[in-house]
Amino acid sequence: MKIQMVDVVGQYQRIKNDVDSAIHAVLDSGQFINGKEVGEFECESAGYIGVKYAIGCASGTDALQIAMMALHIGPGDEVITTPFTFVATAETIAILGARPVYVDIQADTFNIDPALVEAAITPRTRAIIPVHLYGQPADMDQLMEISRKRNIPVIEDAAQAMGASYKARKVGGIGRIGCISFFPSKNLGCFGDAGMMVTNDKELAEAMKVIAAHGSRVKYYHDMLGVNSRLDTLQAAILKVKLRHLEEFNAARQRAAGRYDDMLRGTPVTTPYAAPYGQHIFHQYTIRAPKRDALAEHLKARGIPHAIYYPVPLHLQKAYAMSGGKVGDFPVSERAAAEVLSLPMHSELTQEQQEVVTSAIKEFYRTH
Ligand SMILES: Cc1ncc(COP(=O)(O)O)c(C=O)c1O
Repeated sequence: MKIQMVDVVGQYQRIKNDVDSAIHAVLDSGQFINGKEVGEFECESAGYIGVKYAIGCASGTDALQIAMMALHIGPGDEVITTPFTFVATAETIAILGARPVYVDIQADTFNIDPALVEAAITPRTRAIIPVHLYGQPADMDQLMEISRKRNIPVIEDAAQAMGASYKARKVGGIGRIGCISFFPSKNLGCFGDAGMMVTNDKELAEAMKVIAAHGSRVKYYHDMLGVNSRLDTLQAAILKVKLRHLEEFNAARQRAAGRYDDMLRGTPVTTPYAAPYGQHIFHQYTIRAPKRDALAEHLKARGIPHAIYYPVPLHLQKAYAMSGGKVGDFPVSERAAAEVLSLPMHSELTQEQQEVVTSAIKEFYRTH
């Protein structure tokens, strides 16, 4: 039985006719840049998330960078975030000349611990970036309270969480700006790279639109420093079709997560915690596993896909050595990095496939 970590082709097959016609409409129009599908998808995404403005761009990484550029974050500034995330979160802070300041995570949600944020604030703090890791919303109320009290904007890294909600509000639309990724494996994935910034702030929305277009409002006149970061029309057309199915894709992931929970009950692994304040959309189904590396080897030997997101927290990454991070600085993140294992998870995953995965896990713990 073929089991995949992510089944992008299987999902495409299910909606092939609609996707193919959307692609052909763009090919026939020749409007590969700024075609009408871009504006339509931005509008539909804004409606879906419940924000006033959505601006497409070339990737989730660009979305974070453009968001920070619109907030004038640069050299000498500090941005608070989690060390237990994909590198893009800190990379974009550092690329702008600012300094990532890490705050450890909660052991259960794997997200930034709001109780530790205030102690990390200095007069140089310009933003707080929570990450809704694995599709589980961070605890936003406390973060927004700190944001209001200290007048520091929150940028949500919702790259992994399109469709997740926090107290009935879609994530991305809670902070000052939300950043989304449409990388193919994401819950709403396109057929290449794409991303989006969302906000309710008109001025920021305009600034982000201009920054993403070389800092230009009028062609060849550049009012501010910008970048070239566009959402391609082809990707927008594909995403427009897939957005209509997102709730159904996310529900399928949630059902698969429930089945994994049942199958893994009674084993030594810790199944994912779903915080009661929100809707986890299981971009990843990530367990904590005793003897994790040996378990990973066992699965590999049986051809069962799995992944470690992420093996090294950012404060210990070589490229970020200038921040002076050392082992022991963020123990909860370090422990997570040593214990987490993500299992195959996608909208097409079947009970039979999950039985193969979980039987192999049970077999491992019977002998180890
Ligand atoms: C938490 C997080 N932030 C940012 C990004 C960057 O998104 P992209 O790959 O679209 O540039 C990702 C993508 O993997 C991510 O997982």
